Amino acid sequence: MAQDVHCIIGASGQLGTEMALSLKAAGERVVLMDIKPPTYSGILDLPFERIDVCDAAGLADRIAHHHVNHIHHLAAALSARGEQDPQWAWNLNMKGLLNVLEIAAGALQPMRIFWPSSIAVFGPESGPIAGQEEHRWPATVYGISKNVGEQWCAWYRRNRGVDVRSVRYPGLIGTLAPPGGGTTDYAVEVFDHLDNAEPYSCFLEASERLPMMHMDDAVDAALSIMSAPQEAMRCEEAYNIQAMSFSPEELFVEIRRHVPDFRWTYAPDFRQGIAAGWPDGLDDRMAREDWGWSPTVDLPQLVDTMVRARRFKEPALGAV
Ligand code: SER
Repeated sequence: MAQDVHCIIGASGQLGTEMALSLKAAGERVVLMDIKPPTYSGILDLPFERIDVCDAAGLADRIAHHHVNHIHHLAAALSARGEQDPQWAWNLNMKGLLNVLEIAAGALQPMRIFWPSSIAVFGPESGPIAGQEEHRWPATVYGISKNVGEQWCAWYRRNRGVDVRSVRYPGLIGTLAPPGGGTTDYAVEVFDHLDNAEPYSCFLEASERLPMMHMDDAVDAALSIMSAPQEAMRCEEAYNIQAMSFSPEELFVEIRRHVPDFRWTYAPDFRQGIAAGWPDGLDDRMAREDWGWSPTVDLPQLVDTMVRARRFKEPALGAV
């Protein structure tokens, strides 16, 4: 049997970079696609195609050229950036997804797609611990696009036989590439301030708890759901997953255990309003039961890894 060929759309981004490194380390064939070239040195030897995911013909051509049969479609405008440019965010998030789903529906060989949804599908009316079937009325353009995207995935699965798999990611925290325009980004950028004489100024309130996850678990979730048998998937929507929940204050206190002179202040901005509409945690039992979701990194491990990676330039957990 021919080896699978994976393409990562959005490969230069925060999650794409980490996923590319993991697939490469596992000996998989990987093609990187993005509108901007990758920057992390560990993946620069992989083939790269500069492509706009909104360019349907160009995307289809490159996917066929490389005989891709596993698409990881990660390119998206995140929550905070999306609120500042709603039309652009909607176009990128929806057109990109529909282009990928159409390519899979018309492919000559079976295709499998991974497309991440988000905690942003929930809104102010959702409960503090969002169940798999929680009421969803998202309050951001990003959240609306992810919610509708889940429905499009279900439609293509039912009507066009597309094998598309999805999880609702919480905030993702890693070291290889910076996040871009999210509400949970404070939990990454704070680690860049550890050697700063100025206190870190957090754009969320001290007690704003959100679900979070280390990148190693995020990549593991994507690769696990992609390799699970289709019959095991009971969920028509994206699966809830999370690894931990914490507030800024809880994170900063944990960081201070490693960096005793670390100081912080709070200056909440519009992103606090977005975060306030998201749940504190997710009930992810269905993902655990259906395809063995099982996170490994808790808050103390996350902080230990991130402090060392940022301060001493050590590789992230599991990185090669
Ligand atoms: N990390 C994303 C954001 O903050 C949520 O999925 O927008």
